[in-house]
Amino acid sequence: MTIRLVLLGRQGSGKGTQGARLAVHYGIAHISTGEMLRNAIKHDSPVGRVVKDVIDQGRLVADDLIASLVKGRLGEADARTKGYLLDGFPRTLPQAHAMDEIARARPVNIVVDLEVPREVVMARLSARLAAEGRADDSPAAVEQRLALYEQQTAPLIAHYRRQGTLAVVDGLGTPDEVFARLVSVITSTTGVQGAGGDGKASR
Ligand code: AP5
Ligand code: MG
Repeated sequence: MTIRLVLLGRQGSGKGTQGARLAVHYGIAHISTGEMLRNAIKHDSPVGRVVKDVIDQGRLVADDLIASLVKGRLGEADARTKGYLLDGFPRTLPQAHAMDEIARARPVNIVVDLEVPREVVMARLSARLAAEGRADDSPAAVEQRLALYEQQTAPLIAHYRRQGTLAVVDGLGTPDEVFARLVSVITSTTGVQGAGGDGKASR
């Protein structure tokens, strides 16, 4: 069985932190749409120029653009042969429908909603603003991102619950505690054991 996983969760819930560790643990590709877009901006590519202001203001990039980036990435050898973890996509219903189509032949087999309350993610993101200065961690952009989560992304939880692939995991506690919970759910759902260890090997 190959793991094809979607990680849902509020901004700051730990998708990037846990996604990196789970990818090492299970030997799968970690595909973060936010990282792909930030890289495009860093390299001043045509996509980067289109999305820079949208991201800095905490708005969402157009569904068609993001779906075509993901489709291309999922066609690469590592994702096709080893499996993947999607972090940050889909995050609107049209994107979820596009993903259902993209993965029609080999569907996503587990969707994990990493649950962290709004007050806690706000504290995490303001700490990151102080430490790293990420433009979209400013108070105004965080407000906008969290509002878009409630409007556009939260409905995906019902979508995947209907499909029977949803697992909800408590994202509170230390990163090690959250990682252990995730591994327990993913391994019991998919039957894939993973490499063992704490997923920190590549750090
Ligand atoms: P993206 O990069 O996906 O950002 P995000 O969803 O806003 O989420 P974050 O990356 O901020 O949070 P995370 O859940 O990954 O948490 P993390 O592990 O970093 O997207 C950025 C932008 O790109 C979007 O706003 C949009 O404009 C665009 N975009 C991307 N995908 C798109 C799509 N599909 N459609 C349209 N537009 C799209 O953790 C957060 C902080 O908390 C870190 O500092 C971390 O160290 C800390 N932390 C993590 N776990 C813990 C813990 N257990 N305890 C304490 N602190 C913790
Ligand atoms: Mg992230």
